[in-house]
Formats: sequence, C-alpha cells, structure tokens
Amino acid sequence: MDKIIVKGGHPLQGEVVVSGAKNAALPILASALLADGKSVYRNVPDLADVVTMLKVLETMGCGTARLTGRNKDICEVAIEGPITPEAPYDLVKTMRASVLVLGPLVARFGRARVSMPGGCAIGARPIDQHLKGLKALGAEITLTEGYVEARAKQLKGATVNFDVITVTGTENVMMAAVLAKGRTVLENCAREPEVEELARVLNKMGARIQGAGTSVMTIEGVDSLKPVDHAILPDRIEAGTLMVAAAITGGNVLVKHAQPEHLESVILKLRETGCTITAEEKGLRVKAPKVVNSVDVKTTEHPGFPTDMQAQLMGLMTVASGTSVISESIFENRFMHVPELHRMGADITIQGHTAVVKGVKKLSGAPVMATDLRASASLVLAGLRAEGKTEVARIYHLDRGYERLERKLRKLGADIRRVKA
Ligand code: EPU
Repeated sequence: MDKIIVKGGHPLQGEVVVSGAKNAALPILASALLADGKSVYRNVPDLADVVTMLKVLETMGCGTARLTGRNKDICEVAIEGPITPEAPYDLVKTMRASVLVLGPLVARFGRARVSMPGGCAIGARPIDQHLKGLKALGAEITLTEGYVEARAKQLKGATVNFDVITVTGTENVMMAAVLAKGRTVLENCAREPEVEELARVLNKMGARIQGAGTSVMTIEGVDSLKPVDHAILPDRIEAGTLMVAAAITGGNVLVKHAQPEHLESVILKLRETGCTITAEEKGLRVKAPKVVNSVDVKTTEHPGFPTDMQAQLMGLMTVASGTSVISESIFENRFMHVPELHRMGADITIQGHTAVVKGVKKLSGAPVMATDLRASASLVLAGLRAEGKTEVARIYHLDRGYERLERKLRKLGADIRRVKA
C-alpha cells in the first residue's frame, strides 16, 4: 500500500490546474445507460472511483474505454449490445456511488438489481430517499439477499418531495424521471453544481429538465435519449483543497479552472481567515498570511459550506490564531481525522457534532493514517505545515478522489512524495 511522505514548511507558489469533478463524473457516466450508442466524456478525472464506475458499466455489458496520451482525459461508454442490469456487491461495496445506476437501469430496461450499499466510514448513509422517489414513479422495489430490485414496465411521472436533501438521491430519481411517461416534479432537491451538471448532460441527450440548481425540478418525460459528447466541469472540492493548501503554507497560488460561482462559501470563509482571494482570468488566486485567523464553520447543503471541505478547513484551523468551532450537520461520523490530527499536535475537542479547534503555534510531523477521502486530504494539508516528516498511510482513500495530488503539490514547491509501503 502506498504512503505519502511530506516534509512541511514550504510556502506553496505558482499555478496548479484543477481536474474534472469526481462527483459530476460518476452520475454522468451512469447516465450513459440511458441511450444506445457511444457517449464521449471529456475532462474525466483519472481516479479510483471513476475506474470503479467504468467497471460497474462493463460488468453490465457496456463497452468502456479511457483514451491515452493527449486524450487521456477522455472516456467513452458505448451501449451496443444486451445489458445485464445488475451491479454486484463486490463493486458496490468499494464505491457506494455505484447505486447511481439504479435509476437509469429501471427507467431504460425496466429492471435493476443493485447491491445495497452498507454504511461507510463517515456515516450510515441510507438510500431510502432514492427508493422513495423510484417508488413514486411506479417502480416496484424489493430487498432480497442484500440486493435492491426495482421493476417497472413503464415509469410514470409523479411529484416527489424528498424528506432529506440528498445529492445522489436527487440524481438517481432525476435519471429515472427523464424516461418516465408524463411530468415529474422533484421537490426539496439538492442544489449542488454537480446536480446541475448532470441535468445539463441529460438535456443535451434530449431530456427536458427545468429548474436544476434550484430546489424544485420539473421533468417532462421523453421516449428516448441519444448519446452525448460532454466536457465535465472542474472539481470544486479539489479546487477548495488546493486553496487551503495555499492558505496553510502561507503561499501564493493560482488555482486554475477554479469556478468562483461554485466556491462562494469557501471563498468567503478563506477571506475571513485573512487570505486574499482574487478571481483572475484563468482561475482563483489565493495569497495567504503567515498565520490565518480562526473562523467558525457549519457544514450545510449547497450553497452552504460543503461537508467535503470540512476536514481540510479543520486542518487549517489547527494552526490559526484563536479558537474555531466547526459543526458538521450532514454526516454523523465525519471527524475521523481528529485523532490523527492530535498525533500531529493539534488541540481539538469533539462535542457531539461540533469540534472546537484551538490553534497551536506549530504542528509536528508524525505517522498518521487516512480513514476516508477528505480526512486523508486534511492530513496531507497538515503535513504541508508541520515541522518535520509526516507519513500518511492508507492513501488509497486519497486516490479515490484526487488525481495525483502529490504531483500537483510538488509542482507548487511542496516537499512531498509517494512511496510504495
Ligand atoms: N440520506 C438519507 N437518505 C437517503 C440519502 C441520504 O437519510 O436516501 C442522508 C445521508 O445519510 C446524509 C445526508 O442525507 O446524512 C446527505 O447525503 P447525500 O445523499 O447528499 O450524500 P451522497 O449523495 O451519498 C454526495 C457526495 C459526497 C458528499 C455528499 C454531501 C457523490 C458521489 N458523493 O454523497 O461526496 O459528501 O453528497 O454533499 O456525489 C466525497 O466526495 O468525499 C463525498 C463523500
């Protein structure tokens, strides 16, 4: 298993390019199931989770390819023969987002058998809202042997009011509704840019979705969709992580392709910490002071502060002047990075869903263990600031969602490398 070794203390300088968004790529790849023929996706990040989604599609009988050389950001998914509408346990257990094939499969093939994702490191993460939406559209849902089976000859438009705001739940039901007969109204939808991006792709395929990016979407069902050629939007969480990397090292970095309109809450928080953030033609520039101010944060659904940036911001707060209160309102177990940050000298107390972080003068490098994707990122960030050597183990978590993070940071002047353990 690979490890990352970081020696801290180098202010990051220069330019870095953000890759395509993981959480847009995953539903978009699943949406290829909605049309016959070959879809072409550009700016697809080269991540373990994308490889898993392509495997899920291949297992069902789709042709998939990642191109090479200058076109290595391009993935193709082709549906040219029969499809077995099933996502097996072995794949779903490695990536719960595999459940995103459920909606497209039942809409297009009238049947889906998808392993139930279990809980994961950050919380229980049920899929009841996905199932509630599909049932409302007329799917018959049964749970047997750890699998969800959904069946429907023809889905029918309906009104669905989600009890909780769910990103992949909204996406799954949206992908089912595009081929349902008649009009579907989805209420209390997730408003994340990735949901909007999926709607953009579906509309390019011939769907009729209105209101994506707001909490109510109206979808007029169509009989069929066509394949698409689409370039995926930049990853706002990777951009935010790189911005915090600049902030925690007192650096000056241009984060290219970072989209200000998707990062408002993160930009506002980083400005409160004392960083100067300016929109330039190619992206966002972060200029950071030597020591940042502490800020309080509560994670909420978009456009609030993203839970996927909580661990990274906490890393920054460990070395801020003053005390910061960080509340996590989306997932019940998303403070797994805290005991690892303690090993580096951070002063953090957890009270329920809130962490109180007292800034310390210095962190010291230590061997630490990654527990989930964003927790891993926060440990790497802390390592960039810490005195001495930090070794981050179990970085397969990091590789699920960051494309060669260590290379990007090294280009900015960090002393960081990956070693085979
Ligand atoms: N929830 C339910 N029932 C459901 C669905 C969700 O109770 O049927 C609850 C969850 O347990 C959670 C909350 O609703 O407490 C929000 O979960 P959501 O469904 O929005 O999360 P998700 O769709 O499973 C996506 C991202 C996550 C990101 C969350 C929140 C993808 C593939 N994943 O997950 O990304 O944290 O939205 O923004 O889009 C990451 O990239 O590190 C990551 C975990």
